[in-house]
Amino acid sequence: MKTTASLLRAIGLSILGFFILQFSVDSGEEWAYGKYPVLWLILGVFILFVVAAEMAVAALHRILYETLDEKQKESYHLAEAKRKEKQFAWIKRKYAALVDTKPMAKEEEILLDHEYDGIRELDNNLPPWWKYLFYATIVFAGWYLVYYEIMGGPNQYDEYESEVAAAEIAIAKFKAENKDLVDASSVELLEDPADLKAGKAIYDQSCLACHAADGGGGIGPNLTDEYWILGGGIKNVYHTISEGGRSGKGMVPWKDELKPNEIAQVASYVISLQGTEPADPKEPQGDKWDGGDELIH
Ligand code: HEC
Repeated sequence: MKTTASLLRAIGLSILGFFILQFSVDSGEEWAYGKYPVLWLILGVFILFVVAAEMAVAALHRILYETLDEKQKESYHLAEAKRKEKQFAWIKRKYAALVDTKPMAKEEEILLDHEYDGIRELDNNLPPWWKYLFYATIVFAGWYLVYYEIMGGPNQYDEYESEVAAAEIAIAKFKAENKDLVDASSVELLEDPADLKAGKAIYDQSCLACHAADGGGGIGPNLTDEYWILGGGIKNVYHTISEGGRSGKGMVPWKDELKPNEIAQVASYVISLQGTEPADPKEPQGDKWDGGDELIH
């Protein structure tokens, strides 16, 4: 591991091993190393092998070197030096081009002719990497000016508004896809005719026997008036249908029969009966409700 090349090789192989293990083990969404910590052990053993192999090759190299006679050693050193010079030549060239400094030996050429207390100045070129960065900022500034100030690109307020609009769409979509996430405290009155129609279908099937087809009441109370025993408003009506009425009165909990969204639909239908005139209304029971959508349970 004495040469840069062998060090780079070892590091490269280790990183490669890391990713091969990660992507060849099926761990679903999680990181394979998080799900199966034993992989760290496997990786560790692999890295040990790589290091050992590098060391073995280096040792072999040394032994072979010892078998050379003086002349052979000399030509070997020459060849090695040449190889070293070529190593990373491209990177070295690029680096030199990007910093563009005069080699120390040629500084004489760019020495300015003033001198202050023995301190002299070199007329170096600006480093090209710095210059390119500077040009890039100029291009960026021009683009920025044209895009935001002339062509009316979005400012912070516009960006905020478009993000809020996108979030609202996402929330609406989420709600539409997860209709059964409602409960008595979060339910809102449904006004979509399709929901009310579905609510009426549930009502006609499960509720009309006790509350009459038009909500006028029978065994159960009148649902068309403003008087409620268990509280009015969508949230309390939802709660009553879901959890049932007072025990022994005949209104059972429906939460095992109906899904949350179905309860919301039939509750909305019940609310929609408010103010209609049933054929044979039962006398008002409970208190006049003026609590809006407040949940009293
Ligand atoms: C077996 C008869 C019966 C059936 C079926 C029935 N209810 Fe009731 N319901 C009652 C009775 C009785 C009460 C009064 C409960 C009490 O006093 O605690 C009541 C109360 C209610 C109330 C509260 C009324 C108030 O004044 O607070 C609502 C809302 C209601 N029912 C809706 C429904 C819906 C919707 C269904 C169908 C899913 C349904 N009920 C099915 C008998 C019934």
